[in-house]
Amino acid sequence: MCGIFGYLGYQEAQPLVIDGLRSLAYRGYDSAGIAVLSSEGTLGVRKAAGKIDNLIGAATSSPLSGKLGIGHTRWATHGEPNEINSHPHFDGSGSIVVVHNGILENYAELKERLIANGHVFSSVTDTEVIPHLIQELIAEGLSFPEAVRIAAGQLRGAHAIACLHADHPQEMITLRIGNAGGVSIGHGQGEMFIASDLPALVPHTSSVTPLEPGEMAIINPEGCDVMTLDGTPVDSSRLTITVNAVSAAKGGYKHFMLKEIMEQPETAMSALRGRLSFNPGEVTLDLPFTEQEMKEFTRVVFIGMGTSSHACQIGARFIEILARIPATSENAAEFRYRDPVLDSHSLVVAVAQSGETADTLEAMHQAATAGARTLAITNVEGSQAYRQAEASILMHAGPEIGVASSKTFINSMIAMQLLALRLAATRNTIPVAASTEYVQALSHLPGLLGEALSANEGMYHKLAAKYARSRRFLFIGRGLLEPIAREGAMKLKEISYIHAEGMSAAELKHGPIALVDPETPVIAFAPRNAMYEKMLGNISEVRARSGQVIGITTAGNAGFTGLVDDTLYIPATPPLLEPLLATIPAQLLAYHMADLLGNDVDQPRNLAKSVTVE
Ligand code: AGP
Repeated sequence: MCGIFGYLGYQEAQPLVIDGLRSLAYRGYDSAGIAVLSSEGTLGVRKAAGKIDNLIGAATSSPLSGKLGIGHTRWATHGEPNEINSHPHFDGSGSIVVVHNGILENYAELKERLIANGHVFSSVTDTEVIPHLIQELIAEGLSFPEAVRIAAGQLRGAHAIACLHADHPQEMITLRIGNAGGVSIGHGQGEMFIASDLPALVPHTSSVTPLEPGEMAIINPEGCDVMTLDGTPVDSSRLTITVNAVSAAKGGYKHFMLKEIMEQPETAMSALRGRLSFNPGEVTLDLPFTEQEMKEFTRVVFIGMGTSSHACQIGARFIEILARIPATSENAAEFRYRDPVLDSHSLVVAVAQSGETADTLEAMHQAATAGARTLAITNVEGSQAYRQAEASILMHAGPEIGVASSKTFINSMIAMQLLALRLAATRNTIPVAASTEYVQALSHLPGLLGEALSANEGMYHKLAAKYARSRRFLFIGRGLLEPIAREGAMKLKEISYIHAEGMSAAELKHGPIALVDPETPVIAFAPRNAMYEKMLGNISEVRARSGQVIGITTAGNAGFTGLVDDTLYIPATPPLLEPLLATIPAQLLAYHMADLLGNDVDQPRNLAKSVTVE
């Protein structure tokens, strides 16, 4: 998704802005550009399609000098990802530049009106309308900040914008409309920064001001004035952020994704730390509900997108199994448009590792407006979801750079099991002895994850070589493993670009089995649990039709290897932890196939780390 970075201070802006764009690259992009205001009052722009290295080439061969600059990584929505469509975009006079994250829903009518007024456009983007709107309002006598503010009022949709004016060398303006990707202001000493997400600011400052939707900031080298888009001054809050920059480094692994898969025992530990106590087993979570309110919840709805929606499916089952509250999981984008029936006894839990997913944020807003209580499960403290929910359960997974979610998926399931146990304790739905067993099992999870990661030595390279050229895959599972079948398919398709479909194994006979042939490997999640015999039936249905099966089962499950073509093992574990452990072989299978195919595993084509547009 698009990224914005800006600098105003006493240092040369170009290298700082380009480094800022590099730290935003993991969000996914297909072109990039920068604008710098020279000491002579000239706005220079360098842009390039493709990777940031292409932009560096352009900016190095012809450097821009100046102490004020903005930059942008573009994930194309309107117009192909080429140089002319990349940001920053100029107005007609060459005095104003704008970078933008969002989709301008009314750009066609605005552009038509501007063209009728004589404006000429060079790109096919929606964004280019914005500097021309500002130019027109300045021509009518408004100041630069006022023109930006009034122009913002004409924009429909959700946006994050930054802009400069050649006649204002000490001023950078940024604003947020709706729940588009966030923008935060970093406070330095005699210098100021803006960035789409907090980790990009960490190398420069720990003091940040996240802009709320509907706010605009006029930034000078010493600070900023924040106001609402109707001009009312805002006494904005400051957050202190700490992100261990070392933990964001690749740490010797070939890809961030592999590092993040392998560090899951440690990050799972972080999700559990301080939240488990024994004798008797109890879960400690800081929730904004009274004991009575928790007893009176009549339903729990988990909302999320993509991998987080698969986590939601697991969370709903945890809640019903442990807390015996009716629970569902919903695609956030569908939830927000179906006018759900909610009230103060409804608990809506948004799952979003980035905390910036536009559909999930809007669904959260809808839930709160309908009177529901809200929680967020997110990996980014200070993110929009974190600030929008009544309270958050942080995933504590550390920065996840790989676009394909791995450790945050595991930690979101941990967070949901902790929530389910906490609600169960309040509602006395499980005996204390059982609660102690669940807490004990969770405390063993980091070790079990480590065992799962070290199991199947050498198998992943072998299976990747055997199956990576397949045209499509099916993933099947039952019970708590059904959502993991869906997640396994998601992992494979998003980094290997091979089509994969995950489903309940029970669904096979109702259609998908028509796809089974020697060219369509089936990954079957078949641990020794209550559904094992059923899974064996599904496996034999596939093999009876010459389908190849990679079976994932419990270590020591004698006789299983003769029922499948290839076997991957997970450690024996209590049923509620099986979905977490079964995720490991699914992640590693996808990773090694994508790596063997030579794909950009950390930044797969067309994808973004946080989808901040609807
Ligand atoms: C997962 O591997 C994908 N990168 C994507 O589906 C992601 O889970 C989805 O966009 C939701 O992101 P969020 O958790 O930040 O809301």
